[in-house]
Amino acid sequence: MMPDAPLAAATAILGVKPLTHAFVAEITGLDLTRPLASETVAALERAFLAHPVLVFRDQKLARADQVRFSRYFGDLDVSVNRQYHGDDFPEIHTVSNLDADGRPLPFEKLANPGNYLWHTDGSYQKRPPRASLLYGVEIPKAGGVTSFASLHDAHESLDAAQRERIAGLKLVHSWVQSRLNSGSRPPTEEEIRNSPPVTHPLVRTHPETGRKALYMGIHGSHIEDMASEESTALLAMLVEHATREEVVYNHHWRAGDLVMTDNRCVLHRGAPDYGGAAEPRILHRTVVSGDAPF
Ligand code: OGA
Ligand code: MN
Repeated sequence: MMPDAPLAAATAILGVKPLTHAFVAEITGLDLTRPLASETVAALERAFLAHPVLVFRDQKLARADQVRFSRYFGDLDVSVNRQYHGDDFPEIHTVSNLDADGRPLPFEKLANPGNYLWHTDGSYQKRPPRASLLYGVEIPKAGGVTSFASLHDAHESLDAAQRERIAGLKLVHSWVQSRLNSGSRPPTEEEIRNSPPVTHPLVRTHPETGRKALYMGIHGSHIEDMASEESTALLAMLVEHATREEVVYNHHWRAGDLVMTDNRCVLHRGAPDYGGAAEPRILHRTVVSGDAPF
């Protein structure tokens, strides 16, 4: 459990309201179109360590606002999927269910089906991102929920024998394998060359809190030095354990919501249920760089 002090300090400056699940809190009292004082940023950092999913509602963020706010938390990554970049802010990745003519696509045709399977952004990178920020631009009337699950809670709620079994294991993450597993557009030769698999500890230590987290998801291909069936079964068991219905926070979007998630200790996935919907669903995503897991 986190010590009380960071949360108390954050609450003194801005509103930190835990939602239905303790790892998620709504931050109130901030207009993110305005530059923030360094004490406010420090308070947000503390709140983010106590609650690795932060929700800001009723915002009105231009792309520049989202980029400025995201930069308070570190350098921003530029997505590997270059075709989604707007020209003005390459740091903003548009998550959209629309085709080039602005018509909603059926689920099977959505650009990144991997988004709809449990994952933590960029775990296939040597230095995976610290945080991702998703901003709701256009939201369908129904569906299109994004779900989150705490990987700290997942690790802590394993029994002692299970924790012992997985301690020290290494998970190979592969962007290429993930594309194949999720039925995405097959990777090109060049993409395969540019995206070699990487290996991270299956149980990682959060660099700022020291808490352990089960670090896995759809980009995880196999456990190093383990028979393939055993590895597949173990990973399936762990994902199922981490994402039990009662531990999952479902974010029901409204336009103007900004949700910031700690990729080092939270899984997320979109719900595919708006595929084929008549309405657009558009989110803007920014991704804050991180360090190699240990
Ligand atoms: C993402 C993502 C989920 C969603 O963009 O990284 O996981 O609900 N999106 O669109
Ligand atoms: Mn994602």
